[in-house]
Amino acid sequence: MITVALPKGRIADDTLKIFRQIFKSDFLFEDRKLIMEEGNFRFLAVRNQDIPTYVSNGAADIGVVGLDVLEEHKPDVLRLLDLGIGRCRICVGVRNEYELDYNNPGIKIATKMPNITREYFASKATPVKIIKLYGSIELAPLIGLADAIVDNVETGATMKQNGLKVAEVIMQSSAHLIANKNSYIIKRDEILSLYDKISAIL
Ligand code: PRP
Repeated sequence: MITVALPKGRIADDTLKIFRQIFKSDFLFEDRKLIMEEGNFRFLAVRNQDIPTYVSNGAADIGVVGLDVLEEHKPDVLRLLDLGIGRCRICVGVRNEYELDYNNPGIKIATKMPNITREYFASKATPVKIIKLYGSIELAPLIGLADAIVDNVETGATMKQNGLKVAEVIMQSSAHLIANKNSYIIKRDEILSLYDKISAIL
């Protein structure tokens, strides 16, 4: 049995589509159920940011998670494969009329990704004040909580509809297949066989 942690929402749907294609089986979570067992697999419906915790602790053998979450939390897991789904960009965003000034040492940045933000501005040698939020990041510069944001941009609609623009692109992200290090030793054949099947249809 292989336990797979999936982030709730579109990435889970797209990943289950891949599994359906490979195994010709009905992989679908029932209504509000958080665990689904089908054939040799057990799927867990997990909050995106929690996937590395499930996989690094061995509660799941493998998982699917955005590269942005891996870069933010740097969990002790194996990165197996870029699934190419859930593509987005991690960007610095500002109000349309605002220009980001790297010589201003007091820039306030709202984000749910404080580590990526800290590393990025450190690479520019710009000290920033990071304001940690958990969602609706785009709101912060609109009401003066922050000068800029660091957030994921997928279609760009949220920024556009709130009068924000991309000032810098920090990184590209997409969903990656990751594995627990012990599982990769103990269940190596099963995980590699799955890896081959997924790579073949990508
Ligand atoms: C993400 C992200 C942006 C939005 C970007 O938020 O934080 O707010 O999606 O998508 P777009 O470019 O297609 O408009 P999410 O929906 O995950 O909710 P959150 O505000 O709780 O982080």
